[in-house]
Amino acid sequence: MSTVTLTVPGPTAELEIVDLPLVTPGPGEVRIRVEAAPVTPADVSTVRGYFPLPPADRYSLGWGLAGVVDEVGDGVTDLAAGDPVLALSDWFDTLVGTQASSVVLPRSSVGERPASLGAAEASTLALNALTAAQALDLLDLPVGATLAVTGAAGGVGGFVVELARHRGLEVLAVAREEDRAFVERTGARLVVRGTELGTLRADGVLDSAVLGAPALAAVRDGGTFVAVTEPSTPAPERDIRVQTVHVVSDAAALTALAALAVDGVLTPRVAQTYPIEKASDAYAAVATGGVRGGIVLVP
Ligand SMILES: NC(=O)c1ccc[n+]([C@@H]2O[C@H](COP(=O)([O-])OP(=O)(O)OC[C@H]3O[C@@H](n4cnc5c(N)ncnc54)[C@H](OP(=O)(O)O)[C@@H]3O)[C@@H](O)[C@H]2O)c1
Repeated sequence: MSTVTLTVPGPTAELEIVDLPLVTPGPGEVRIRVEAAPVTPADVSTVRGYFPLPPADRYSLGWGLAGVVDEVGDGVTDLAAGDPVLALSDWFDTLVGTQASSVVLPRSSVGERPASLGAAEASTLALNALTAAQALDLLDLPVGATLAVTGAAGGVGGFVVELARHRGLEVLAVAREEDRAFVERTGARLVVRGTELGTLRADGVLDSAVLGAPALAAVRDGGTFVAVTEPSTPAPERDIRVQTVHVVSDAAALTALAALAVDGVLTPRVAQTYPIEKASDAYAAVATGGVRGGIVLVP
């Protein structure tokens, strides 16, 4: 099976596409024929060596995927070969990468995908929409509360805005003027990037632009703040509850997010697809930044 790998993470690391043996799913596992797997900023950070990783001869890359069930292990009775799915690999725990033609994951990491939801679109939900949902759970804001979202037009932020509106929150979406139509179609209010965030006094902030302390200034005293990386998690102040989201796979939540996409609540965006052999180009596109929508590998 064709797999995107690297051997030594670091600033000059090169990706290698290698052919690894097909894995037989064990009890409680599902083998998926991958149809789409996004490349995200987290993958770029992995390649560049920004994350401390356990030693390995070779790392396979990627968190999210969409595809079709290929084979199920013992005990998996509610999925069968041919079922369309989306899934998140708990990569930091398992080092099982999704940017491959075939991937084996626990059933508990695999959500069901309506056939009407395309694989490339669905694959963009797995990491980013699940992170958005779990970040909103951590924020735990009541209906009608005001949430400010930095990076509101980005991969995580775009889904946060849509899910927050769906959950009845007022949303202040910090993004570029060019992103006005995207964020305002949900009923969110655009806060043009560069605005002094200390004037917002929101009940909560989701900092998907990894701004850290400058974003904390947007929270009212006693409010709540969720960061998406450890380095961008600011020290608490003014009785603000500060937390960091660490996404974990959740089959039921993935199924629910796919259904929300079909219902039009979530808008999966695909900027460009690349054949898996062009993975280096896809990584370069993500590293350059400024893209709107997922960069998706198609094995
Ligand atoms: N903790 C977790 O479980 C988890 C899960 C998924 C992702 N993440 C992390 O979440 C972060 C965001 O990921 P993503 O996929 O959403 O990235 P993304 O698509 O690149 O979005 C980031 C957004 O932030 C904006 N931004 C960047 N610098 C900014 C600044 N100085 N001021 C205001 N806005 C700024 C970008 O705008 P422009 O494009 O216009 O520059 C972009 O819209 C990454 O660090 C990723 O590793 C964490």
